[in-house]
Amino acid sequence: MNRTGNGAALCEDPHDFLVMQNLYDAAVRQLTLKFNILNSEFNVLYARNPIHHIDGRVKSQSSIVAKLIKRGLPLSIESARNDIAGVRVVCSYIDDVYRVGEMLARQTDVEIVKKQDYIQTPNYNGYRSLHMDIKVPVYLSDRTEYVVAEIQLRTIAMDFWASLEQDIRYKVDKTKLPEGINEEMFECAGKIAEIDRQMQDMYQRIKASDAYNED
Ligand code: GTP
Ligand code: MG
Repeated sequence: MNRTGNGAALCEDPHDFLVMQNLYDAAVRQLTLKFNILNSEFNVLYARNPIHHIDGRVKSQSSIVAKLIKRGLPLSIESARNDIAGVRVVCSYIDDVYRVGEMLARQTDVEIVKKQDYIQTPNYNGYRSLHMDIKVPVYLSDRTEYVVAEIQLRTIAMDFWASLEQDIRYKVDKTKLPEGINEEMFECAGKIAEIDRQMQDMYQRIKASDAYNED
């Protein structure tokens, strides 16, 4: 096994991995459907879509293993549990992020395990998103499993910054970054956040004006 964990397995029996993968994939599909239903209902009621797009994924075995090794955690499904299924919901405006998050939280089969508001409190380099670790039931042939998934809700603008930031930092040694990069990233995130607020403000002003056509 090398340092990135390539070749290391989470389960001794490969079939156990398939069972787990199927379970988490079912949770991702179910959550994606929930968001699609909310989006289409919004369209019928208000003739607009709060959700721009949705990305769902189950982490590959090699990236689960690589992250566990990096964090010095035991190689088991249990220790990776909160980090296997992920759904990213990219919304049009900041208000939509919170609105969609609340709509999900109100669903009786969804339990919020952890909530982190990186919009209100961005991280050290300016990353913004609303994170919710949630638990949903998945109904299998002979039992019900409660599966944890990480939901990331963000605007198109936040997604633009996060995608490029991830791209720039991919495979870099964070201790050897040119001086000032973190500060510059933070500054870019701030400028993008300002534009996000401005776009939302314009949208709201237009909506409140005579120019707005509800049909
Ligand atoms: P893990 O899920 O185990 O990483 O712990 P956590 O949930 O406490 O971490 P956190 O919520 O900080 O990050 C989870 C995910 O958010 C990451 O896997 C990324 O997808 C995303 N994320 C967090 N911080 C950043 C960042 O600075 N830049 C980018 N591009 N994405 C980030
Ligand atoms: Mg997480």
